[in-house]
Amino acid sequence: MVGKARGMKFRWGIASTGRIASDFVQGLRQIPDADVVAVCSRDAATAQRFAAQRNIPTAHGSYEAMSQDPHIDIVYVATPNSRHRSDTEMFLRAGKHVLCEKPFALNEHEARAMVKTARAQQRFVMEAIWSRFLPVYVALGELLATRVLGRITDVRADFGFSASSDPHHRLNDPALGGGALLDLGIYCLHFARFVLGGHDTVTATGELNNQGVDVDATYTLTYRNEARATLRSTTRHATPCEAVIIGEHGTIHVDRHMHHPPGFTVRLHGQPEQYHRFDETGQGLRHQVLEVHRCIAQQFIESPRLPHAETIAYAATMDEIRRQLGVRYVTDESTS
Ligand SMILES: NC(=O)c1ccc[n+]([C@@H]2O[C@H](COP(=O)([O-])OP(=O)(O)OC[C@H]3O[C@@H](n4cnc5c(N)ncnc54)[C@H](OP(=O)(O)O)[C@@H]3O)[C@@H](O)[C@H]2O)c1
Repeated sequence: MVGKARGMKFRWGIASTGRIASDFVQGLRQIPDADVVAVCSRDAATAQRFAAQRNIPTAHGSYEAMSQDPHIDIVYVATPNSRHRSDTEMFLRAGKHVLCEKPFALNEHEARAMVKTARAQQRFVMEAIWSRFLPVYVALGELLATRVLGRITDVRADFGFSASSDPHHRLNDPALGGGALLDLGIYCLHFARFVLGGHDTVTATGELNNQGVDVDATYTLTYRNEARATLRSTTRHATPCEAVIIGEHGTIHVDRHMHHPPGFTVRLHGQPEQYHRFDETGQGLRHQVLEVHRCIAQQFIESPRLPHAETIAYAATMDEIRRQLGVRYVTDESTS
């Protein structure tokens, strides 16, 4: 298996020159045993410009060319959602480990196929749900494990902003895997699962744009213990982007932005409120990198903290929400 020899750095290749790829390079630079060795783009000049501005030694003029670069151990896939499966599988088949941006895939079928490829190739793959690895989420998880709230009855989370109405923008275009659910709602689903585990039923209502992707949706998840999660994702309206957990002994209020909050407030009945603050001085995307390195060093092909089954479960839940909303991607046609 591709790993790293003692004392050597993990060599990363960056697949795309988009917005989050740029942020991620900053995050990698804050990890001492990560080396950014290459970037690729559909266009050679774009790759060269991105590389020159960030002092990255190699610029590839195609994704295929980077997949054949023998000096790369791990690829960060940060292309539009519609390409996640093909890009991830190409890099896995070329022997690279992959950290793939969320949403991992357009549907459950794609997610399962990607995991199957990683297993066949014995390479690590993980969905880049960076929230999970932030110190603030780790602390929240530890607090919840003490059952501080007693039985949890409700979770609420929202993620919304007013996005461009350009029909070609990747959030609006079904051909690029557009829609608020896959881009933003995944964080709300992650939050609900982080607090309550796997759900029982899901009911969704919402609004689509004239290209047929969701621009505003609310979904309620129910759980066997009678808890509920009420979640909303929208690219039409700026929403608080907060989360609340309600339990029999009080509440926990997670600050804006709930997927990378500066802190959370615990209010227990009859006690003074407590604010837990986490000053993030670096690029928050870097925390997941430590998990990727730890897993690869141990020759794991999945993270025990964000297992493949969880990624597949998010894809399946989003399939069901989209089914209820009436959102279809081309890839759904060949897999239904
Ligand atoms: N973790 C987070 O906080 C976070 C935040 C934002 C987005 N994301 C995820 O990251 C991914 C990229 O999002 P982004 O906001 O960085 O998008 P973006 O700025 O539009 O960048 C996407 C990049 O993908 C490449 N690309 C390849 N094929 C393309 C095509 N057919 N159309 C358009 N671009 C294409 C382009 O780079 P080249 O031209 O160089 O090939 C483009 O710059 C999405 O899956 C998104 O959900 C994650």
